[in-house]
Amino acid sequence: MQIVILKDASEVARYGADIFTSQLQRKAESVLGLATGSTPVALYQELIKRNQTGMVTFKETTTFNLDEYLGLSGEHPQSYRYFMNEQLFNHIDIDKDRTHVPPGDAKNPVIACQEYEAKIASAGGVDIQLLGIGRNGHIGFNEPSSGLTSRTRVKTLTKATIDDNARFFKEDEYQPHLSITMGIGTILDARKVVLLATGENKAEAVKAMVEGPLTAACPASALQLHKYAVIVIDMAAASQL
Ligand code: GLP
Repeated sequence: MQIVILKDASEVARYGADIFTSQLQRKAESVLGLATGSTPVALYQELIKRNQTGMVTFKETTTFNLDEYLGLSGEHPQSYRYFMNEQLFNHIDIDKDRTHVPPGDAKNPVIACQEYEAKIASAGGVDIQLLGIGRNGHIGFNEPSSGLTSRTRVKTLTKATIDDNARFFKEDEYQPHLSITMGIGTILDARKVVLLATGENKAEAVKAMVEGPLTAACPASALQLHKYAVIVIDMAAASQL
């Protein structure tokens, strides 16, 4: 694990964008693993700027998102597909057919999970996987107690995660309690992993991930096993290290 501690969230976004930019400049047809949540938004804005100024192109790039709410179709404003379109895909030169988000409206979610794994494999695997981290140490929607070799599957969300993500939903709006998420084993198969964390409310999870034991109680600690995992954090998120 390589730990990079930077001053603030905007430095974290730029550093993360630099990693993705050099990956794409080296290999335009890269397979990127992407994440949702508020943390990667600044990195996406940076990539949009770089795409619009011609520094980087996504024309040959394929993407796979980590997770999706089960029960929401891609047109639903709270779905992660909608989020990715709004925050990134609509603003870059990517071919939308090459962007993949687990289908939240799948008729048979179990089969959909197997198909998602097969699609990743037939694309040649993920070159570089972007991650955020939940306050309870989750990555994707792999909540504490997730199997460390798990594959894409349906997962229930913990109350802590539902509460943390309630800010994105209106008061009377339906908030799903289930998700489809890449497994920890799926994430560990990526050739590189880049995890971003900013703010003091992530400090405890960052400490558990980096300094704690390898344990399903902190799913992000599985990254200790990865041979190319870069943890990019600001000083606030590093404050308990
Ligand atoms: C959600 C996503 C995760 C993300 C986490 C943290 O639960 N499934 O992939 O890392 O939120 O989000 P934020 O960056 O908003 O703190």
